[in-house]
Amino acid sequence: MFSESLIRLKEKNLLREIKNRNSPQGSRILMDGKNYINFSSNDYLGLANHPHVIESSKKAIETLGFGSGASRLLCGGSILHDKLEKKTAEFKGTESALIFNSGYSANTGIIPAIADEGSVIFSDELNHASIVDGCRLSRAKKIIYRHKDTRHLSELIEKETAKRKIIITDSVFSMDGDIAPLKEIYELCLTRNSTLSIPNFLLYIDDAHGTGVLGNGKGAIAHFGIKPESWIIQMGTFSKALGSFGAFAAGNKDAIEWILNTARSFIFSTALPSCAAAASIAALEVIEKEPKLFDRLWSNREQAVHEIIKLGYDIMDSETPIIPVRTETVEEALHISQHLLGNGIFAPAIRPPSVKEPRIRITVTAAHTAEDIESLIKALSL
Ligand SMILES: Cc1ncc(COP(=O)(O)O)c(C=O)c1O
Repeated sequence: MFSESLIRLKEKNLLREIKNRNSPQGSRILMDGKNYINFSSNDYLGLANHPHVIESSKKAIETLGFGSGASRLLCGGSILHDKLEKKTAEFKGTESALIFNSGYSANTGIIPAIADEGSVIFSDELNHASIVDGCRLSRAKKIIYRHKDTRHLSELIEKETAKRKIIITDSVFSMDGDIAPLKEIYELCLTRNSTLSIPNFLLYIDDAHGTGVLGNGKGAIAHFGIKPESWIIQMGTFSKALGSFGAFAAGNKDAIEWILNTARSFIFSTALPSCAAAASIAALEVIEKEPKLFDRLWSNREQAVHEIIKLGYDIMDSETPIIPVRTETVEEALHISQHLLGNGIFAPAIRPPSVKEPRIRITVTAAHTAEDIESLIKALSL
């Protein structure tokens, strides 16, 4: 039934397959018996293998077991879910927070909870697929604005009269590594909300790649010096820079309570294992105690970017440890990725439908050494 479709995908060089590691995920990996330096992971601070993260998770399994049994609304959560929510709210400077099982389930649960048929969503054209799917599920009217173009966004907003308007943007765009103009978007909402007795502009920020990376780890709104407002909802993940698993919504008390009561991916899904919550708590503790991790992440990023540009590559508008290397064609992306693999470097080719323009997506982390980055540069000198 699907074989012809698969053949067509293969002919277009778009067939994907999973590779299997026999080592922990980290800056060095072992795959199919070969060692590679890994530039494909979103574990930006190298916390997935941090001893405090691992020990805390082990201890939680020993004391609380593994499976959560059911949704937290059905059979209750553990004290670690509650502790992580309090810690996340404190970390993000919000009144409240709620844990989700993944970033994907957060976006597909929260967006339909805050937007309905009567709402209008303004969404950046490069927003993550989970936002796109969340918008579809919400049944709200969706208006796509040009990537990071706040003038276009303002023009589109002026034309809409819906009661609730929601602007949704990634903070850091996951395939391009650039940062949303959040200060301008914030001002745009602030100006409009300040004339109303009840704010009707909501700003929803997907801070999956900003949390643990921007603003000394606190994320995008700290990076821009924006203060949390009742009309801002921050979504973020524990699965990337925090080296753990799961996601959160952080915002004011009523917004979070509403999401808890209406987000279907929260209500109708078994809770995250407590050991994952323990790992996230530990990761937050580590980044509070080890600010040097950020220095290392950003100096590694600077070293890599400097050298990659010197080789003549186009890194698009990257501003973060996500460094795309643009290629003309899918074939070229695959060729470079294979060449890197042959030289002990794991960095994937990213192809449609994940992106419109093919590229190699290089992610630099705090766990890389200067030698790792030199090896990458050497391998890129085709
Ligand atoms: C911007 C963005 N949002 C959400 C997600 C989904 O997060 P998770 O991997 O925890 O499901 C991702 C992950 O790739 C992402 O890049």
